[in-house]
Amino acid sequence: MSSPFQNRSLSVINDLTVDEQYYLYEKTRELKDAILNGGDLDRFRINDSEASYYLIFLEDSTRTKESFRNAAAFHQGRVNMFDVGSSSFNKKESITDTVRMLMGYSGRSTFIVRSKQEGLCRWLDSSMKEYAQAAGLKPPVFINAGDGKHEHPTQELLDEFTFLEQLNWDRSSIHIALVGDLFHGRTVHSKVDGLRVFKDVTVDLIAPDELALPEHYRERMVSNGFKVNLFDSIEEYLNQKKCADIWYFTRLQLERMGDEVRDKEKQLRRAVTFRKEFMNQIPEGVRFYHPLPRHREYPVIPVFLDSTPLNGWDRQSVNGYYTRIMEIAILNGQLGEDFAGEVKQKQSFPGDFVEEVDVSSRKAPKSMDYKVGIKPVDQGVVIDHIARGRDLEKIWSHIDKVRRILGLNCRSSHGVYHCNDRSLFKGIISLPDILSFNDKDLKMLAAISPGCTLNLIEDGQVVSKFRLLSPPRVYGFDEISCKNENCISHPDFFEPIEPDFRRSDSGKYICKYCEKPHHYSEIWDI
Ligand code: CP
Repeated sequence: MSSPFQNRSLSVINDLTVDEQYYLYEKTRELKDAILNGGDLDRFRINDSEASYYLIFLEDSTRTKESFRNAAAFHQGRVNMFDVGSSSFNKKESITDTVRMLMGYSGRSTFIVRSKQEGLCRWLDSSMKEYAQAAGLKPPVFINAGDGKHEHPTQELLDEFTFLEQLNWDRSSIHIALVGDLFHGRTVHSKVDGLRVFKDVTVDLIAPDELALPEHYRERMVSNGFKVNLFDSIEEYLNQKKCADIWYFTRLQLERMGDEVRDKEKQLRRAVTFRKEFMNQIPEGVRFYHPLPRHREYPVIPVFLDSTPLNGWDRQSVNGYYTRIMEIAILNGQLGEDFAGEVKQKQSFPGDFVEEVDVSSRKAPKSMDYKVGIKPVDQGVVIDHIARGRDLEKIWSHIDKVRRILGLNCRSSHGVYHCNDRSLFKGIISLPDILSFNDKDLKMLAAISPGCTLNLIEDGQVVSKFRLLSPPRVYGFDEISCKNENCISHPDFFEPIEPDFRRSDSGKYICKYCEKPHHYSEIWDI
């Protein structure tokens, strides 16, 4: 029987189901016990001399890089520390070409990649598997070792493993305080889904507004069923009774922020830095954690705490070695045959975005529906209900967008008109020279202006009417791009990536790579 984990990649924590994450924790526990107590290690080891482990760190790292280097060495294959400084990146080679080339040098490749660009692993995973197959190579595995301010899934796995140890493997509940730079902290962003390994989750977010967790992550915590409480500072937090027994601190990344925020640096640091005077307010049994590194001048966990029972961060950092051995093992199919839980399914996109409206009982008389300021058409297409209910400026901008993106440079008229409910307005474009729309144009129209209707007119009658809903996925258009400047698919990076957006339950379009949510109108470049 083969392993359900084999040849999968880990771009975000959600690439593993909760059951799969827990399986990894249990196996890590067995491995840690075997290493510390002299047990059999061979069953955990890949032991393939043809296997290569490429460590590509395009951003600084100590812990993640060194723990992965040692974890890869455990598996007794070839460990390649990719030297970014002397590579052809300096000759403007794309990461896509580089990885493609490296894959050819080994029978089986695992890439561990850290980058400033967000979504890089997702891109490599979705593009290189096909390439490997065509080239007769084994499917490569990609592991995200931290991408910009997006996610750090392997840190998340070591964090949760450590919390499980603290809680004696009781998954019934967790109460955790997240303290510090929750805005930029990718390790915190991975917690939004990683904490689901516990059944009942309470999260206290401790950060001033400037460093607050982005809204969409907070919304996802709530939709994951977490109880979420907000506090501006540690001081405010300690003035209430229900403190968490797990405190997770993160470094302030003020270097990423504008001057306005940097002017408040002292005040921001003070809000999330632990001080001696707080010591007697901390209940017994509390542990502090930190992904590290701490800032040597302004550590949010001051060094006087190193030798106190609050220190959970040293053990946390050591656990990175064990969990990373296990990540490499599992994703290469070394373990997993005994896994019995829920396996991650490929995302599917059910549901159509075109809904036919019955017009049989409601034939429009020649001069009814499109009479107000628009010349009635005998034959052709009328796009109606454009940006219905939005303000006038938005409706005009939608009309303009529809015309430009669909290239409607033909005889036509358009305008903004009252809806039947006269307190609302809508846009209408009337096109007497166009007799039908193809599927691609329909999808494009639906993505530019969801909610609009397309009316086919023959002999002055509406013979068919379609309501266009937001498509579940928007891709394959030259005119779209991710608006996150750090996304690997952003045009500034010149990687050969086709933008791809998936509609979320809340109606936002999520970039496939960096997961930035966009309003549907935002994804268009024109
Ligand atoms: N926690 C962490 O990612 O540390 P490094 O930046 O040293 O890898």
